[in-house]
Amino acid sequence: MTPRAIGMDLARRDGPAKVTGTATYAAETAVDRPAYCHPVQATIARGRVTRLDTAAAEALPGVLAVLTEANAERLASTEDGELAVLQSPEVAFRGQLIGCVVAETSETARQAADLVEVAYAEEDHETELTAEGEYDAETTGNVEAAFAEADVVVDQTYTTAMYHNNPMEPHATTALWQDGTLTLWESTQGVHPTRSTVAEVFGLDTERIRVVCPYVGGGFGSKGLPHANVVLAAMAARALPGRPVKLTVTRPQMFSLTGYRTPTIQRARLAADRTGRLSALAFDVAEQTSKVKEFAEQSGKPSRTMYAAPNRRVAHRLAALDVPVTSWMRAPGECPGMFGPEVAMDELADALGMDPIELRIRNDPAEDPESGKPFSSRHLAGCLRTGAERFGWAERGPRREGRWLVGRGVAASVYPVNRMPESTAVIRFSGGRYTVDIGAADLGTGTWTTLPQIAADALGVPVDRVEVRIGDTDYPNASVAGGSSGMITWGSAVVDAARAFREKFGDQPGDGDEAEGSVSENPDSERFAMSAFGAQFAEARVHADTGEVRVPRMHGVFAVGRVINPRTTRSQLTGGMLMGLSMALHEQSVLDPRFGHVVNHDLAEYHVAANADAGQLTAEWLDEHDPHVNAMGAKGVGEIGIVGAAAAVVNAVHRATGVRVRDLPVTLDKLL
Ligand code: MOS
Repeated sequence: MTPRAIGMDLARRDGPAKVTGTATYAAETAVDRPAYCHPVQATIARGRVTRLDTAAAEALPGVLAVLTEANAERLASTEDGELAVLQSPEVAFRGQLIGCVVAETSETARQAADLVEVAYAEEDHETELTAEGEYDAETTGNVEAAFAEADVVVDQTYTTAMYHNNPMEPHATTALWQDGTLTLWESTQGVHPTRSTVAEVFGLDTERIRVVCPYVGGGFGSKGLPHANVVLAAMAARALPGRPVKLTVTRPQMFSLTGYRTPTIQRARLAADRTGRLSALAFDVAEQTSKVKEFAEQSGKPSRTMYAAPNRRVAHRLAALDVPVTSWMRAPGECPGMFGPEVAMDELADALGMDPIELRIRNDPAEDPESGKPFSSRHLAGCLRTGAERFGWAERGPRREGRWLVGRGVAASVYPVNRMPESTAVIRFSGGRYTVDIGAADLGTGTWTTLPQIAADALGVPVDRVEVRIGDTDYPNASVAGGSSGMITWGSAVVDAARAFREKFGDQPGDGDEAEGSVSENPDSERFAMSAFGAQFAEARVHADTGEVRVPRMHGVFAVGRVINPRTTRSQLTGGMLMGLSMALHEQSVLDPRFGHVVNHDLAEYHVAANADAGQLTAEWLDEHDPHVNAMGAKGVGEIGIVGAAAAVVNAVHRATGVRVRDLPVTLDKLL
């Protein structure tokens, strides 16, 4: 495949529709006479609903239905506790769904929801994560002996906060149950996975469900798996056949219903000799999960493959608490998992009196320490060296500019190359143009634009002769946009479909010619370890009197294989870095242990980095060619940008001030 369209800096095909407001999002779907659904949520963290009086709500003019556990339909599958909506009076976390009102207007539905009277039998609850308890450990070599013999040891505990995915577009569904068929216009990272999940929950054939989602206003993982709100919307629609029902999750409701990242308590230990060679690393992480559904953030994963230490320990403790359901948030595992270890590497460099870049390069393994396989490509050292030059690492500080203390920090990034097992694309030729159908998603990442680039090169035609249709289960099965696997997976299916098309019809196809292709296992994954790598640089300025922290510059250098589209790639990488900056300085969901809810549950109090926080934030990539990852030679770019970014900021703050903040976020009280 000769890249011609791949690598072109094409503007987003969906851009004009988005910026002119004509792109239709799930809640805006034009339907006749929509009804509106508003959830009723539990106000205790644990116990049971003993009485639920809906009379006042039902009496409100305009109310069409009030659903509770007493009258809701019995679901076919309650295996997924998060999705077992209104199936039991038990309350497992504050904010859990215990009912909903459907009304003629959203205002009426909301008012009526407030009129539902609920009594509870309350039980003691536990919502606070602690480090004490059982850990599942995996050990290679003799870790404790290596620590006992080491010249230099770092042993510190780091914490990351609870974070909530806050895409601009809150979760929303327009649902219609008509003639035995359910249509969901849904804001999702995967129409097909949503369809199969909903089919299973309701016991419906997948053919009787259609999920439509042309545009998504961001998801960051929170729209990767359907949450309870989707089931509730479908349930409400089934209670009112023929009537479309809209459920738009409010921003505060998102803090208990649509997933979040667990807080973590990380003990990171590093052992090295005087030359900086690591002899052991040990990483113990405590995390939480809800009691209704187990979700384990794989924070220990990256430290297994990042550096060459012969003795390694990774341990996890997963505490089941009376809290909302933890779930995917950009780079689950790698994002929190690279925080503690990458700050610990900085601390080790300090203890050794060594350049932290040199320390990392000295421990850059020739092969994957865990599997012993060679890397298909690994250019961590190149990223670090290029970044050092671009960012001015030699002038890293500390220095003082008036009342500002200035310093620069660095950290490494990694993200695995993931490919999902299922996806199919169909290519059709008609009227001189090619149409590619695949039920893929564009959650703002650029799929509408980049899939045509891949298809054009695979077909050997100009990109403007290719149209791609995505975001609808009427198109062939496609995997979720998650784990930075979207472009890799769908692109592989598209390349396969193009190969089949050219085999069948050559380069002079006739009108109506059509071929199908699908993604297959990558045989090279048996022989190689595959990851993208990167280096993050940050400059911190801390005010000597107030402790105010500013990060005027960040620069990331990444090795992500071949870049399909520089514009959308840059947007993903800098977007991830900005989210990492946000994690470093601002984001933190504050849970009140007395009541079990997040108190700062809106964007006024849950601070997300804005333009004014970003300064000069840039990303570049090495010219990396990796023939083993897939036909495009591309690694995913959706998540690596956030990985390591917060550690780079913390390391920069330390260089500027001498204060090592080990608990995120870096707020000024921790610096004074
Ligand atoms: Mo991403 S958190 O894998 O959707």
